[in-house]
Amino acid sequence: LPVEPFDLVIFGGTGDLAVRKLLPALYHRFVDGQIPASSRIIGIAREGLDDDGYRASLRKALQEGGGNAAKIEAFLGQVGYRSLDARKDDGWDAFAALIGEQPEHIRVFYLSTSPELFVDICNRLGSYGLNKGRARVVLEKPIGRDLASANQINDAVGHVFEESQTFRIDHYLGKETVQNLLALRFGNVLFEPLWNAEHIDHVQITVAETLGVGQRSAYYDRAGALRDMVQNHILQLLCMVAMEPPSSLQPDAVRDEKLKVLRSLKPIDESNAAQLTVRGQYRAGAAEGQSVPGYLDELASGKSNTETFVALKAEIANWRWAGVPFYLRTGKRLPERVSEIAVVFKAVPHSIFDPAAGVLAQNRLVLRLQPDEDIKLWLTIKHPGPGGLRLRHVPLDMSFAEAFGVQQPDAYERLLLDVVRGNPTLFMRRDEVEAAWQWADPILAAWADSGETPRPYTSGTWGPSAAVALIERDGRTWNEESE
Ligand code: BG6
Repeated sequence: LPVEPFDLVIFGGTGDLAVRKLLPALYHRFVDGQIPASSRIIGIAREGLDDDGYRASLRKALQEGGGNAAKIEAFLGQVGYRSLDARKDDGWDAFAALIGEQPEHIRVFYLSTSPELFVDICNRLGSYGLNKGRARVVLEKPIGRDLASANQINDAVGHVFEESQTFRIDHYLGKETVQNLLALRFGNVLFEPLWNAEHIDHVQITVAETLGVGQRSAYYDRAGALRDMVQNHILQLLCMVAMEPPSSLQPDAVRDEKLKVLRSLKPIDESNAAQLTVRGQYRAGAAEGQSVPGYLDELASGKSNTETFVALKAEIANWRWAGVPFYLRTGKRLPERVSEIAVVFKAVPHSIFDPAAGVLAQNRLVLRLQPDEDIKLWLTIKHPGPGGLRLRHVPLDMSFAEAFGVQQPDAYERLLLDVVRGNPTLFMRRDEVEAAWQWADPILAAWADSGETPRPYTSGTWGPSAAVALIERDGRTWNEESE
């Protein structure tokens, strides 16, 4: 599809997300011919850089990402920089004039700063008239740090931009496998009849990272894993698994169904948080063969109660899912980078096989989001050959790289173009963000009130042993890639 000319302004333009994700995503779209020649990409931050200084820092990042030197230069020709402070007027007149040079362009303001600045930035965009015309604003997660601050932000942004101009990004929704879940569930007749408490034993969602917090500790230490990953990415994955079939792919049809799931989550609060949640914080250890410091060693203060790991048992109180646990876990400095959703079906009601034939494992549908995209349906079959009836558990395996031979584009590539095209299907509506905070707030409050510190775990392990106990208490185990 052709892309209309646009100007994209990135607040927080020198930040980790912009340099590591947004600009490389735009570069890849540029290489594919989807950035019109008159489009401009403008980084904004407080640092007193000029265009060349900014380009130099991006050039390095793009080269490290394996970009082609000539194409990087051509791309950087469309990139500029302005130094602005959201809390001061200096420079805003000139910036407004710059944007005003191309009034017919779609204008996208991407707020990739700390959420505390969203209100000031939007107010300034409004007072300089930049919300007019075909303007859109993108809010990076997390939106606030609890329901009250999310409301404040949403109200303030809502004074300047209409809801239809507001794109709350959750980049997990741009990942191929997540969209594939829609195709798998609603493009096949096989799964939907089984997709309920009668046939599904439980669901697991794991988002494991090997990286630590590194340079991002100023942000991360105020957030923690529940705010950084669970309130948004993991709940969005849960919604895609659990929602009722929407009547169409219209943005609101999908988002209405996700909202119902969020509103059906059983509360976790001080009465049950100790049984249903586990918090961890990494200590020094090893990651990918290198020794790495602990979380506290990376903080200037050396002190913190922030969790870098969380495991929890969620439940959805509705007819489809009553009694089906959703075990969720995410953490930094775990042994491997892997994100996956495992849907584990019930055991067969009665075995006709001799116990010597082997164990009858439960069917599992495992959707892997990364490092490589792949869908496996684990089945029980007969071990081939003579030697009697021996059972084996093997996957029907659909690896996307093998099947289609292409590297999938990064989630941000798709989502940035969806913003330019004005398609909000894969973005969070205000009420979704609020419902997610409504569920997360009592968990955070219960942790704060408990006075307990997160459980330590060694970097390079699967988190505190209590996370294993959380699922094993129920007679289940975390999914492992094994036969
Ligand atoms: C971000 C979080 O939203 O997602 C990071 O703020 C996390 O802490 C990142 O590392 C993970 O994204 P991905 O696409 O690498 O799985």
